[in-house]
Amino acid sequence: MKQRCERDKEARHVAIIMDGNGRWATRRGLPRTAGHRAGADAVRRVVEAAPGLGIGTLTLYAFSSDNWQRPAGEVSALMRLFVRYLRAETARCVADGVSVSVIGRRDRLADTVRAAIEACEAATARGRQLNLRLAIDYSGRATILAAAAATKPGEGVEEFDRRVRGLAPDGGEVPPLDLLIRTGGEQRLSDFLLWECAYAELWFTRVLWPDFGAAHLGDAVTDYRNRERRFGRVLEQAV
Ligand code: FPP
Repeated sequence: MKQRCERDKEARHVAIIMDGNGRWATRRGLPRTAGHRAGADAVRRVVEAAPGLGIGTLTLYAFSSDNWQRPAGEVSALMRLFVRYLRAETARCVADGVSVSVIGRRDRLADTVRAAIEACEAATARGRQLNLRLAIDYSGRATILAAAAATKPGEGVEEFDRRVRGLAPDGGEVPPLDLLIRTGGEQRLSDFLLWECAYAELWFTRVLWPDFGAAHLGDAVTDYRNRERRFGRVLEQAV
């Protein structure tokens, strides 16, 4: 797999584990769902800020496969929020050149959620400013297992990589993950983009997701630009 050299400092593909909605709400005496609604506003802020920071692909962890275990009321509130977001943001995404796609399982989503996803994907497909990928019912381990099950004898690591990353064999590019951000103070991957994180830079902040904005994203990208990426080589080889 080709890895970019040290001189190439742009964080082209950034992923975010958006954590802290529940605590944000609880601290204000609000129901957790109010935290998720405020979290949707933070999503709008980072989507708006990303292209100006050189980010071409932004992958957001909206709902993990393990999140189905949350109370039913919270799960359905999240699903309603996704539908509302997708419907409400489609026109703005088209105007701003943002293409939206969803990664993860779709077979367990309600028809209304699937329909909202498909409509938003179709309407925004031509966007070239930012590729916004929302991970819904996503599991990194399940994705790797599915790719392993689909692998044919003789296929090498390049093909496997494309399968895990959900890329068509004949095209369809998602750049390698450069930077993974997690808000909310925890320092773990929580089954997100496990394969893609192999050489990603990690950036953690205590800021709760609903408080996250363009300035925080800028801080993370600046920190990323100051790091040395060597991909297992020594620095002289990497530059
Ligand atoms: C984790 O915080 C957050 C989630 C499980 C949901 C993420 C969803 C959003 C940010 C809503 C908007 C998203 C879109 C795409 C419109 P938590 O609830 O686990 O927080 P806690 O750790 O403080 O309890």
